[in-house]
Amino acid sequence: MSVALAPGVTMKDHGLEVPLPGGKSGYFNFYWLRDNCPTSFDRQTRERTFDIFHHVREPRPASVSLSSDALEITWMEDGHTSRYSLEWLSQYSGGRRRPDPADLLRRAWYSDHYPQIARFAQPKLMEDSRAVVAWIEAMLVEGIAILTDMPDSDEALTETVRLIGHVRPTFFGEYFDVKTHINPTNLGYTAKALELHTDTPAEEMAPGVQFLHCRANSVEGGMSLFLDGVAVANDLRKECPEDFTLLSETLIPYYCEHDSYDMRSRQRVIELDERGEVSGVTISQHMADIFDLPQAFLDRYYPAFCRFGRMLQSDKYLMRFRMNAGECIVFDNHRIVHGRSAYSATSGERYLRGCYADRGEMRSAYRALTTEGRFK
Ligand SMILES: [Fe+2]
Repeated sequence: MSVALAPGVTMKDHGLEVPLPGGKSGYFNFYWLRDNCPTSFDRQTRERTFDIFHHVREPRPASVSLSSDALEITWMEDGHTSRYSLEWLSQYSGGRRRPDPADLLRRAWYSDHYPQIARFAQPKLMEDSRAVVAWIEAMLVEGIAILTDMPDSDEALTETVRLIGHVRPTFFGEYFDVKTHINPTNLGYTAKALELHTDTPAEEMAPGVQFLHCRANSVEGGMSLFLDGVAVANDLRKECPEDFTLLSETLIPYYCEHDSYDMRSRQRVIELDERGEVSGVTISQHMADIFDLPQAFLDRYYPAFCRFGRMLQSDKYLMRFRMNAGECIVFDNHRIVHGRSAYSATSGERYLRGCYADRGEMRSAYRALTTEGRFK
């Protein structure tokens, strides 16, 4: 069957070559064109209501016309007419990923970062969405921020999390209290030193954003230790590329086991993003399981693992500071490695209330606060 084709448009086996503004042309697949007809999307729900799975054959045009600013196709199968603006088509002609406003470049930081940590007064965040935007930016770029002037209440933490998403439970529950417990199930609940780690690596997907609201801290000791895992992993990549490859490719076992739970997962110590850049780390000596990998492989893996573990403790990376009552430190749990020095439990009170949120939800909040979206 012959197809009425506009001048300048070329029919290919499975798509059309279309002249675009600026003098270039772009190729578009028939399935893609039919699937993404503007009428495929419901304006109210903003969801796709057209279902291409209901079409039994490859969509083929019966006629194609071109105006100065739009391509129009009438489809053979159902006679439906689709109209696409050429400007809109141009965005998809090169197969480039849709720009993401939340895809901000990470900036690695080192041990001198404490005075520069982005700080936000919590009451200001509660009333000014521009401050929330700046807070999320700090989380995306540096992975850490300190909120000040937190009200001394359980609700204050929940209300603060709600600015960027929901409280994300773990198998410990929705909230956790870091203070000395009588029957501790976790080193965090003792006064002992807590070595550098990321939280709950035994979960299949460890939570993305961690909140630690300091409600009291009058003890001797108990200094907070924080470092940027991205800075350390980037240095390892330069200094020992073979070790970097081992740590970024090998899945190692993590566990968390007590009377009523037996959590297990396998994680890579160094995490890479889709561009191959370091996005973070998963590290926890108290939750690393006995490595059940071939012993001969461990001849290579253990030296790399230990080199990285020693680097984490270097003064080049480690910030040491005292958390003050009324502060809440918020950090990317897949990037920022944290710990605590030992303290004297009888010297005063130390109480941190913590919870988690989701990184995807945080990025969603950022996009919604900074961009118009496609359907307005
Ligand atoms: Fe922790």
